[in-house]
Formats: sequence, structure tokens, C-alpha cells
Amino acid sequence: MNCQLRWGGSLTLLKDRGMTEASRYATVKTTLKKGLVMNSQVKPGKLLINNEWCEAASGKRFDVINPATETKLTDCAEGDQVDIDRAVSAARKAFETGPWKKMAARERGRILNRVALLLDKHRQEIAELETLNNGKPIAETLHVDLTLAIETFEYYAGLADKIHGETIPVNGPFLNYTLREPAGVVGQIIPWNFPLLMAAWKLGPALATGCTVVLKPAEQTPLSALYLGNILMEAGLPAGVVNIVTGFGPTAGAALARHKDVDKIAFTGSTEIGKLVMKMASETNLKRVSLELGGKAPNIVFADSDLDAAVNGAMRGIFFNQGEVCCAGSRLFIEQSVHDEFLSKLKASTEKMIVGNPLDPKTQMGAQVSKEQFNKILGYIEQGKKEGASVVTGGAPAHPKGYFVKPTVLEGVTNQMTVAREEIFGPVVCAISFRDTTDLVRQANDTVYGLSAGIWTRDIGKAHRFARDIKAGTVWINCYNQFDAASPFGGFKESGFGRELGEHALELYTQVKSVWVALN
Ligand code: NAI
Ligand code: MG
Repeated sequence: MNCQLRWGGSLTLLKDRGMTEASRYATVKTTLKKGLVMNSQVKPGKLLINNEWCEAASGKRFDVINPATETKLTDCAEGDQVDIDRAVSAARKAFETGPWKKMAARERGRILNRVALLLDKHRQEIAELETLNNGKPIAETLHVDLTLAIETFEYYAGLADKIHGETIPVNGPFLNYTLREPAGVVGQIIPWNFPLLMAAWKLGPALATGCTVVLKPAEQTPLSALYLGNILMEAGLPAGVVNIVTGFGPTAGAALARHKDVDKIAFTGSTEIGKLVMKMASETNLKRVSLELGGKAPNIVFADSDLDAAVNGAMRGIFFNQGEVCCAGSRLFIEQSVHDEFLSKLKASTEKMIVGNPLDPKTQMGAQVSKEQFNKILGYIEQGKKEGASVVTGGAPAHPKGYFVKPTVLEGVTNQMTVAREEIFGPVVCAISFRDTTDLVRQANDTVYGLSAGIWTRDIGKAHRFARDIKAGTVWINCYNQFDAASPFGGFKESGFGRELGEHALELYTQVKSVWVALN
């Protein structure tokens, strides 16, 4: 069975890959006892330090909200610098003296495989938890977030025993070889838009290489990471290898970015905080840094494209995950000769979208993650109107309760307007008409960001020239928002640096040592 994503794409479920449930679970003997959700009763969250659940040293807690109902779901321990210190020392001890680094790489791979199996086993429960906390539709959490998170752990499970150095033919009577060693204690700060998936992207390669980790989930969405904490322990991860400290950015996050005993920091979030993290990373020591930040991707529709497919792709590009996607196709360039036809098709399809209860399997767009994001998006729509854009459809809240925004299309946008320059991070696409194709690449590149880009055309020469000339880490040709654990992802320019996923991510979490041996 193929799970059809609603804007035409498809993601293959694990079952399609020839695995029966029995074979997948063969190695899993026990079941989870401490799950966070039981029939949607969400339990309070604690910090995970050294494989023990504990309160923050301050005893403080913070509320976790369901953005679809604006009500409190539960609360979590509010970690700060003291708890980060405890977590970093646990990670340091586990790195220097624990079994993790010394373990056979294949055994580390087996543990990561068990994480994937356990995520799959609890797929429904975790998906519900994620949807309750983030507001995204259950159809997506089940078949996108969970599937991709599972595949990420499977992919790095397979890579764990394939990380090795090289021998180098140097001058003279010497043997020269390299060792590829784990980076050490790693701090990972993740955002709220794909809470579990971002944890998987970060943890998969870090654990495959033998690093130990302190993970700081976003304060809006800490719950799936805590559930994952249980799974990591059940899968057999030794104490201190992954520590999870929930809490706020300026306290817990900043303490991690500054910490003297952290060797590497990986951050996903806003460009504003990414720049700050880079600064903090050099305050007490000199951490290696990787940053995956904002975007303002051009999605370009040529008159010679399959227009219906392009309409679908434009929607997938901006309405997937309520537009809370760093690589969202938010600047929609449309060739003038098909502009009106394209927009009328886009308007008609957009107005058919089901926006509502995220737990309903039929729902196509859920709630924005927080009141802050909801207000920010509506503010940008007003700003767009003030600067001369007009609303083709949407432009307002979708329901009186909950942080729902109608899928919105703005037309008459120019590349200089605020809505075309700043990341809205919501379901708002800016349609920009173009006639002069010679100037198009310059316009598409005229942004501080460079995370991704899309192009819709039947002319393969044009498509590949664009792929070469655009300054972006990912280019989609006649498709949009495709992801795979094996394919690298990351930014050019102010969208950050470092590549996550694929073999490239191993570079983030390893360092190379050159060893010389005299042969005479
Ligand atoms: P943010 O960048 O403030 O938060 C992301 C993570 O960084 C969270 O875990 C947060 O606790 C942490 N953080 C915040 N301040 C910190 C600090 N001073 N030191 C260390 N860590 C810190 O993003 P926010 O405020 O939630 O969203 C604002 C905008 O950022 C969004 O509207 C969107 O434009 C962009 N964003 C981009 C994301 C992406 O995937 N590239 C993800 C989330 C937000
Ligand atoms: Mg912030």
C-alpha cells in the first residue's frame, strides 16, 4: 500500500519495503512501560540525565500547550544552566569512560536499529503525541514524520560500521593513515516544526559515530523527544550517551552553546539565533558548529511545465506542515503568460483544503505551533497588503479557536516586498509574476537565504542550468519537499552550513587524525 501525501506525492511506508511486522520486531522482547501517552492522557515530562528521569534542580516547570485547542496538555521540567552542567558531565563521563565509544561499531548499529523498530512499534502513539503537541495533521505525523524518523535511524544503523579512515601514499619511508574519531560531547538544539524528526536527524549520525549527546528540544514541543528518551533506553543505549534537557532557549539552550566541555554544537532554528549560537560557541572554548537555519525558497513555474503538477507542487511546497518548513517554497515565481490561469487553478485547489482538527485523518492542514507564530503570520499578511500585495485566497484565521490560519495566496508581490524577503514560516505563498527569464536566476538568488529551490519545466536544459546556477543546498526539479535519509540537506549563505543526512552528516560528528609511522 502506498500512502499518498495529499498534494500528489507519495511516501512509502515501511511495510512496502518487504518487511513483515514479525520480522521487524523479532529482536524486541520487551515493550515500553513508561510511555508518555495513554489514550491521549499526556504525562508530565522530566529531564533525562544519565538514563534517569529527574526534575530540574530549580524545581521549575513550564506548560506545554495543544495549539489546536489553546489548552494545556501537560507540563515539563524547566532545565537551565545547572541541569545543562549535570547533563554535560554525564555525557562527558559516558564519552571518556563508558562503553559507547569502545563498543564494536556494529553493535552501536544494532542499538540504532532497535530504536527504529521501537519507533515503528509505537508509531501510532508517538504520532498522536506529536500531533497534540505541534498541531500538525495526524496523516502527516504518521506517514511523514514517523516514517522519516524511523528511516533516519535505520540509515545510520547501517552506516555505523562503515566509518573508517584511509591510507595515504606519502613521500619517504613512512606509512601514513587516518583515523576517523568521534567529535566528542555534542550539544544539539532543535526546533518545534518537526520535533521528533529533527531529533532523529541530529541523533542518528552523532550516535553512529560514537559521540555522546545533550539534546535540547524546543520549549513548544518537548514531548516526542521525551518519548524517544524511553525508546533509547529500551533499545540499550548506555547511561549518559543521550541526555535530554527540556527548557527555554536563552537559559538551557544558551548554557549548552556556551558550555566549556561541549566539543560540537548542532543547531536548527532561526538565522537570528543561529548567529548567536555561533558566537556563544567560541566564548569559553572553540566548538565546532553546524547550523541549519531559515529559508525563502524560490519555486519557479515556467509556461512549458505541466501546470496541474506545478499547482500541486506549489501547494506541497507551502502548505505542507502549515508552512512551518525552513525549505518551504514561499516565493512562487510564475511566468506571465500562464500567471492568471495558474493562479485560478491554485486558488480553486487551495480553497478545497481541509483545515481543522489535527487528529482527524482527513485533515490536510492543522494549527500553527503557537500563538506567537500565529500572530507573526497574520502580521506578515497585513504587511504584504500594506506594501501592495493582494489576497487571492485566505488571509485570515481559519477557526475562532486554536491557532489555525487559512492557506493563503498573495499576488502582485515583488521580490523587494517584506513578505518576499523575510521568512514568514506559515501557509502564505507570495506569487511573483515574471516575463524576463534572463533575469530570473538573479532574482531567485536575490535573498540572504539559500536553503532550497524548485523549478517546474519540461525543458531539461533549463532545469539543469537552474540547478547549477541557484545558490541553494537543495534543488527540486518538477517536485518539491522530497526528503530521504540518504540525501544531504543544508544551506548556502545565511541558511547555515554543514550538511545533515546522508554520509555527509558523518563529517559533522567525526574528526580526522593523521598518523605517521616510520618504516625504517
Ligand atoms: P528559535 O531559533 O528561537 O528556536 C529554535 C531553538 O533554539 C529552540 O530549541 C529554542 O529554545 C532555541 N533557542 C532560542 N533562543 C536561544 C538562545 N538564545 N540560545 C540557544 N538556544 C536558543 O526559533 P523560534 O523563536 O521558535 O521561531 C522564530 C522563527 O525562526 C520562526 O518564525 C521561523 O522563521 C524560524 N525557525 C526556523 C526553523 C528552521 O527549521 N530553520 C525552525 C524554527 C523556527
Ligand atoms: Mg526565538
